[in-house]
Amino acid sequence: MIKEMEAVFCDKFGTNENIQKFFSPGRVNLIGEHIDYNGGNVFPCALSIGTYGIFRKRQDDKVLCYSMNFEDLDIIEFSLKDFKYDKKDNWVNYVKAVIWSFGQKFGKIEQGFEFLCYGNIPNGSGLSSSASLELLISKILIDEYNIKIDMIEASILSQIAENKFIGVNCGIMDQFAIAMGKKDYAIFLNTDTLDYKYIPAKLDNYKIIISNTNKERKLNESKYNERRTECEKALSFIQKYKQVKNIADLTIDEFEAIKHRIEDEICLKRATHVVYENERTKKAVELLKQNDLEQFGKILNESHKSLKELYEVTGVELDTLVEISQQQKGVIGSRMTGAGFGGCTISIVKEDCIDQFIQVVGTKYKEKIGYEPSFYTVQIGNGTMKL
Ligand code: GLA
Repeated sequence: MIKEMEAVFCDKFGTNENIQKFFSPGRVNLIGEHIDYNGGNVFPCALSIGTYGIFRKRQDDKVLCYSMNFEDLDIIEFSLKDFKYDKKDNWVNYVKAVIWSFGQKFGKIEQGFEFLCYGNIPNGSGLSSSASLELLISKILIDEYNIKIDMIEASILSQIAENKFIGVNCGIMDQFAIAMGKKDYAIFLNTDTLDYKYIPAKLDNYKIIISNTNKERKLNESKYNERRTECEKALSFIQKYKQVKNIADLTIDEFEAIKHRIEDEICLKRATHVVYENERTKKAVELLKQNDLEQFGKILNESHKSLKELYEVTGVELDTLVEISQQQKGVIGSRMTGAGFGGCTISIVKEDCIDQFIQVVGTKYKEKIGYEPSFYTVQIGNGTMKL
């Protein structure tokens, strides 16, 4: 791929001299959904698919960007002297966002660059193509502009970019998983303290299959922000009676004792999901360590039920895909992953049942929804890197 990208770079920007190459993965979350902005524990991993970038510094203040995924947009240009969010600049807003975020912390970046990228994360699939791009730009700024921070700080600056410049109030999970990913390991991350541990994602003769609903993506960001606001409201009810920083700081017993204080039906449902999902995540990690895959799978199923009934972020496409998947031979668990409303599910499937799984789930999903899902076998990869 990178050879083809070099040829396109040459075509678009004149020569290939002095180019630098980078890669940044996508991510998938095994469990711990919608709790990374509630101080909960999450369990994501980086994927081997992601975004490739070719970079070259310029002598002036211009930034020229070209994506092989958006050829019709051609080269999009902006000046480092003066730039802001502009809807028509599409994906380049993520480039601007990270430059802005680094600029806030380290002072304005003045020297421009040429940048070409290509991503093999399906767009809008909920596998974090945008966070992948954010970390790619972060790594470029660190390496090429001599900025002395580590990848954890880079993930925080990328999250700030997304929150403040793009306007999506995401948590830290995606950026952290992408920055800190490690081949064949999942990351058990406490999103309050950012303490983390690498846990071997050892599944014996099982594989993680990602199934994409292929639902058209629309307006998910506003629903995402709405969930976050509902959680903040739930927390403020709790804080009137108990000193806690995050909803996920509460144990199940503590929560059960105080939940009647949440005087709003919807907020109560959201908080219930958060507290129980946080416990499920801790349990799931233990089960994986003990190699108890059957129970691990059951917890994934429970997580989906909660996201469907209490957090209400699934929808007919995700529910259909999960329900059919859970019924298949050799499947020990299946759930939606990521922000929800569309996007992907993960299923733990016995290796010798995968072909049949893909065939039957594909057919049944199409019968009900009207179009086909797509399937990928998860390969857990490393975090963002220079090539
Ligand atoms: C999106 C956000 C993450 C996280 C998940 C849900 O991927 O970017 O921060 O909240 O949704 O778990």
